[in-house]
Amino acid sequence: MPVVPMKEIVDRAFGERYGVAAINVVNDLTMEAVLAAAVEERSPVIVQTSVKTVRSIGADLLFAMWRGMTAGIEVPVSLHLDHCPDREFISLCLRTGWNSVLFDGSRLPVEENLRLTVDVVAEARAHGAHVEGEIEAITGVEDDIGSDEEAKRQSLPVALDFIRKTGIDVFAPAIGNAHGVYRAEPHLDAQRVSDIVAAQPIPIALHGGTGMTDAQFSDLISRGCAKVNISTALKIVYMKSSLAFLRGAEERDTWDPPSLFTAVRADVKDMAAAHMRRFGAAGRAW
Ligand code: 13P
Repeated sequence: MPVVPMKEIVDRAFGERYGVAAINVVNDLTMEAVLAAAVEERSPVIVQTSVKTVRSIGADLLFAMWRGMTAGIEVPVSLHLDHCPDREFISLCLRTGWNSVLFDGSRLPVEENLRLTVDVVAEARAHGAHVEGEIEAITGVEDDIGSDEEAKRQSLPVALDFIRKTGIDVFAPAIGNAHGVYRAEPHLDAQRVSDIVAAQPIPIALHGGTGMTDAQFSDLISRGCAKVNISTALKIVYMKSSLAFLRGAEERDTWDPPSLFTAVRADVKDMAAAHMRRFGAAGRAW
């Protein structure tokens, strides 16, 4: 099973109440390591790219990497553009071949966000692609996008109206979650997930996955969080693994880049595989 539409992955996970890890990669090494983890775990996976990562590598080159690395892959995988407030950048990624996008209009008045999201959904459909939507900013700055101030949560009727009128495929509500490292255990409004899903069965994206507990994950996944975003955990593993290896290299006075890549890849792959198992997605490939 090669690259599949994002909706196919999240709808199954939503129906069977497991979570698909949606992991932000930052370069070729991390993309390959996350895909290798999915293959090893027989798990579906969503590979995500921030706008910053796409800009740093270039959309065409990043997509060529994706194509090369997923050619002949035997588990369902999908490429997603994470938080993107830039309408033209959304079009660029859809044109290039991304399977789905998160149009982040959360800083706009809901009416304006809704109008633009309707337009994004129409454009995505023309490419056979899917759309995640949000109406409140997720707390925390992720690759230069966002704010540390907690956004005001919209009412249930406003959220439902947005979901229904836009026709989005995945919804990302604020529930007390945050990007980055939690300074204290987050108080999550799990009931909000249940309320939305009861009124409008739609796969929910859980942002700010790094640092949540197993109990929080399993509760939220059982309520309908079918897409579970992990970014900071990868960045930390990548940097710490590199640092540990380089300290050892300095001690040994041995400077061999491929050994560094091998060590970091193994740690990133282990981190990704552990999340796939925690979310109940391991062994779910079709
Ligand atoms: P973390 O950085 O907390 O893992 O959150 C990731 C995320 O939600 C990406 O959109």
